[in-house]
Amino acid sequence: MSFQTLFTKMEDHTLIITINRPDVLNALNKQVINDLDAVMDRVYKFPEIKSVVITGAGLKSFVAGADINEFESLSKEEAIALAKRGQGVFAKIENSPKPVIACVNGFALGGGCELAMACHFRIASENAKFGQPEVNLGIMPGYGGTQRLVQLIGKGRALELMLTGGMIDASAAFASGLVNHVVMPDQLLTKAKEIATLIQSKAPVAVAKCIEAANAVHNEALNGYETELNAFSACFDTTDMVEGTTAFLEKRKPVFTGK
Ligand code: COA
Repeated sequence: MSFQTLFTKMEDHTLIITINRPDVLNALNKQVINDLDAVMDRVYKFPEIKSVVITGAGLKSFVAGADINEFESLSKEEAIALAKRGQGVFAKIENSPKPVIACVNGFALGGGCELAMACHFRIASENAKFGQPEVNLGIMPGYGGTQRLVQLIGKGRALELMLTGGMIDASAAFASGLVNHVVMPDQLLTKAKEIATLIQSKAPVAVAKCIEAANAVHNEALNGYETELNAFSACFDTTDMVEGTTAFLEKRKPVFTGK
């Protein structure tokens, strides 16, 4: 797998995706969005990929936002197309049937915070900083940030962050529920891989169905309880369900196959 703006590496069935534009703090230009789209297609398609970690190159930044150089001459119509494209690719990450963990290794600002929030959950290094500083540029979040930030930390906290254009550090992000864990920078990938490996030992269909049902909470087109009911019953159609329950009764560890 090779991409212009991403490094990818497989470790124990976890695909580690590193956004690699360190000179501009890994800012998201059109090519990064295209590459993320293409890599997620592979995540959906290849059974050997069981979980995903997204991080940024270097020690300073996860992603410092959309690439501001691409904003300068944008018309309103082009802004609509840009936001639609970003929202679409981030929705592909959020709806991935395989868990996607953000490893936030520094600045997660603007589109970077939005990317981290599109992942299923986030682990931050102690030096991480989060924010939606778009108002400083006369714009606002456009890659789903207004919606996901409110969902994750509540309207009051989300609006303070968006309206002031300020940043919060890793411990404030942890306190507000934006990140699940805060670790030393050199422990970031270790922690993510530890959780990914644990999830990989569970039944893959059940994992995918948990994601699908959790995502239905904020989807007005769906009835969440109905989505849960369908997801729950679909698990009963799997041999992994038979294996899981039998293994419990036989007092042994289950061996899941994803079927
Ligand atoms: N788009 C394009 N380039 C960016 C960028 C972005 N979002 N964020 C940082 N860069 C570039 C800088 O222009 C600089 O390039 P240069 O070396 O050619 O001058 C380089 O990355 C390093 O950034 P710099 O500002 O020198 O680092 P810093 O440590 O002083 O500040 C930040 C770090 C993150 C606070 C600062 O870069 C910043 O505010 N970035 C923009 C954040 C933002 O508004 N994001 C939302 C965009 S919609």
